Amino acid sequence: MQALVLVGGFGTRLQPLTLTTPKQMLPIVGKPMIEHVVEHLATHGVTKVVLSLGFAPEAFQEAYPEGVCAGIPLHYAIEPEPLDTAGAVRFAALDAGIDETFLVLNGDVLTGLDVSALVERHNSFGAEATLHLTPVDDPSRYGVVPTDTDGRVLGFVEKPAPGTAPTNWINAGTYVFEPTVLDHIAAGRRVSVEREVFPALAETGRLFAWESADYWIDTGTPATYLQAQLDFLDGRRGPAHCGLDETATVDGTVERSEIGANCVVETGAVVRNSVLLAGAHAAAGAVIEGSIVGWGATVGAGATVRNLSVIGHGAKVPAGEALDGVTFPK
Ligand code: GDD
Ligand code: MG
Repeated sequence: MQALVLVGGFGTRLQPLTLTTPKQMLPIVGKPMIEHVVEHLATHGVTKVVLSLGFAPEAFQEAYPEGVCAGIPLHYAIEPEPLDTAGAVRFAALDAGIDETFLVLNGDVLTGLDVSALVERHNSFGAEATLHLTPVDDPSRYGVVPTDTDGRVLGFVEKPAPGTAPTNWINAGTYVFEPTVLDHIAAGRRVSVEREVFPALAETGRLFAWESADYWIDTGTPATYLQAQLDFLDGRRGPAHCGLDETATVDGTVERSEIGANCVVETGAVVRNSVLLAGAHAAAGAVIEGSIVGWGATVGAGATVRNLSVIGHGAKVPAGEALDGVTFPK
């Protein structure tokens, strides 16, 4: 089976980390996010992955110049302009010549979903499209999906106002599509699968959903990009991951953190519940807590970086600076 993975968004909520790097090329415990996604698909018999590219496609092409990722052949479909989620699916599926049942994934989701079981459900529903649903505490930043007891989708509400969602089961960003879904997507303009295509398909009665409570996270915000990696460190994704790259130099204190290749944590520096991407540097006495430090960035001596602060690649936080819940540079 082929899988079409949406990786063309701007990753706005993860700026400045995503100003030049697509979100799915940012590392999760040292490996680009897209590789985690493709590896998982490979374990469920996916034999070809179509990457739906928009923003900064060269980042993917340079990382996988042979067009192979995690052992799976890739097809690069590059949009001439952002077409939004459904427009992107249509463009990429036609570009790749998909003409059989296929998977569609939001490329920023990490999940333990049994993808093969989702496909089986889709077949037994006789659905035109089947969505994976997951439960969340606050559905307001997701697509909310009420269903009947047979799994038929009754409606689709993208990002409802807080407190108004009809259920806390949300669209988890893995879909099985029949090729006929493409006929519901207008050509040559931006079309949202969540705001336009799913609500229309729900009206036909041929949109179904399957609920599972497998591990699931959308890594697209600083909080969840960090949490996805803490989950590896905490052993929620298999045996606890050792977050310390062997090429890192640590003379200070590191607790429950992912420390990338060639990072330096100087004497007296403290790094806790944080992610330091490759080449980041915590100078003497710096404190980094619950934050993300980009590739090659420096946190100066005695500076404090706390509370989901995000330091851009190569940025230099001046000595003694106190950053609390902010992006740097702004
Ligand atoms: N090619 C292409 N072109 N890809 C796009 C475009 C586009 O114009 N716009 C967004 N994408 C990609 C993003 O890169 C991402 O992988 C995926 O589409 C979803 O976009 P996000 O920006 O991450 O959406 P979201 O997190 O706000 O909401 C979506 O995911 C939730 C679950 O994680 C929706 O599908 C929600 O309904 C869902 O609940
Ligand atoms: Mg997302």
